[in-house]
Amino acid sequence: MEDFDLDGVTEAVIEQMATTPDPRLREIMDAAVRHLHAFAREVNLTPDEWLKGIAFMTAVGQACTPYRQEFILLSDVIGLSRVVNIMHDAKGREAAGTETSLLGPFFREGAPKIPLGGTLANVSKGSEIVIYGQVTDSEGRPVPHATMDVWQTNEDGAYDLQAYDPTTMDMRGQLQCDAEGRFHFRTFRPLGYSIPMDGPVGDLVKRQHRHGFRPAHIHILIAAPNHRELVTALYFADDKHVDSDTVFGVSKSLVIMPRKDLPDAPIPGLPSIRYDFTMSRESAEGGGRVGSDPAKLVPGGRVGSDPSKLMPTG
Ligand code: BEZ
Ligand code: FE
Repeated sequence: MEDFDLDGVTEAVIEQMATTPDPRLREIMDAAVRHLHAFAREVNLTPDEWLKGIAFMTAVGQACTPYRQEFILLSDVIGLSRVVNIMHDAKGREAAGTETSLLGPFFREGAPKIPLGGTLANVSKGSEIVIYGQVTDSEGRPVPHATMDVWQTNEDGAYDLQAYDPTTMDMRGQLQCDAEGRFHFRTFRPLGYSIPMDGPVGDLVKRQHRHGFRPAHIHILIAAPNHRELVTALYFADDKHVDSDTVFGVSKSLVIMPRKDLPDAPIPGLPSIRYDFTMSRESAEGGGRVGSDPAKLVPGGRVGSDPSKLMPTG
């Protein structure tokens, strides 16, 4: 029998967990316990604050549904998702590869297929722009027939999952690049939007006096055989939140502005964005997405479609 002092508790827990057969679980739990204990000591955590923390985490879990992942949102607003993303890229992204960004909670499998030159807009209206470019590998060779998923908010700053019944898909589509990796499609300028603020994570962000906005952006996910899936997004330079994204997804190289003076624009007269994407080679370690469809993270997944469970705006 041992009487514990503060450091003694930490050592005792680590000693007891030493029986863990899975070495990675052991490494992760050892570090988690050491850092959590150090955190409690550093802030001199009181019983009341400890309980408030537990109530907060309980509320975060209770806010999760097959349509909403409040834990990922928490991870996003404290920059943890970005940290994981950067480390993941360090393993799998080649130096010349396009920078990645967060998948976010609004990616959906099975978006409508659109032809080259087609539009993402199904229901929404807005100011039309064109996005075009080429998908190559790090040596500049075209990646033929890459599949490109694109999704974004409409001009009111809402994703289809927030605005409509889940059977309606809008402002998203999947296209296939041509044999030279070239693509172009039409869309409307998205509006920046607030992350969902009606849950415990929104309460935290409000208490921190943060604005809660993401700058206007267009998500792009590109897939091609033998290449690392590229999950990225393009951010509009004139959005006032481009330097203060609530979820830390912006990189300089992903900031764009539509222009009317691009000589090779495929639909003359429309403001256009040219962006060439560079895919990295597939590697054993660096694959996989930093993100998930929320339905995959709850037991039972998404059964039927219940509009009352949709991810709300703001
Ligand atoms: C988004 O890109 O849509 C997003 C990312 C993280 C949290 C909320 C929204
Ligand atoms: Fe988004």
